[in-house]
Amino acid sequence: MLVRRRTEEDLDDCQRLMLEVHAVDGYPHLLPADPRPFIASADALATWVAEEAGEIVGHVALHRRNVAEAMAVASAYLRLPPDQLGVVARLFVSPEVRRAGVGRALLRVASEEAVDRGLWPVLDVAPDFVAAITLYETCGWIRAGKVIATFGANSLEEFVYVGPAPREAHTA
Ligand SMILES: CC(C)(COP(=O)(O)OP(=O)(O)OC[C@H]1O[C@@H](n2cnc3c(N)ncnc32)[C@H](O)[C@@H]1OP(=O)(O)O)[C@@H](O)C(=O)NCCC(=O)NCCS
Repeated sequence: MLVRRRTEEDLDDCQRLMLEVHAVDGYPHLLPADPRPFIASADALATWVAEEAGEIVGHVALHRRNVAEAMAVASAYLRLPPDQLGVVARLFVSPEVRRAGVGRALLRVASEEAVDRGLWPVLDVAPDFVAAITLYETCGWIRAGKVIATFGANSLEEFVYVGPAPREAHTA
């Protein structure tokens, strides 16, 4: 399995994979009518795919920001201004290759990129994404709080997590 930077040519495959994950797991909860900007977000600092036998089997991004409610909780917990946080986002893995370490590898590459940029890795996750929550906690992430995040007319409960201390992130 190879983790590499996402390219423009990967976007169709990433979108297809996200729709498959949505059908199986309900992620993301609020699937936009046009999923493309959700994947190719203007907030992305960096994006990666996991590839196996030439197929894209996973995706993750590092974003500069997240919903304001979640940023505020992470910022208060870490006592860092929001511009010193890096948000791990858009993590999903093909249902066909689960429990083989792909999610862990993607979480790691995005966390390491955050640290390399002088940012503390943070993320948010809906409480029913139990596999993701177990992955984060297994990798040393700490739950900093819970928010009701608003997305236009919708609102969602989210747990806010902060990554391990940056000096530990490279060895986790
Ligand atoms: C969460 C997700 C990315 C994990 O991907 P994955 O490649 O299967 O994860 P890994 O194989 O790297 O798992 C690493 C560890 O996480 C935990 N874990 C992962 N999936 C789990 C599950 N279904 N149940 C319990 N623990 C799980 C385990 O501790 C696992 O280690 P182990 O297999 O040695 O026990 C994947 O399940 C997914 O895409 N889910 C839907 C989308 C989603 O919820 N994204 C997160 C949104 S915030």
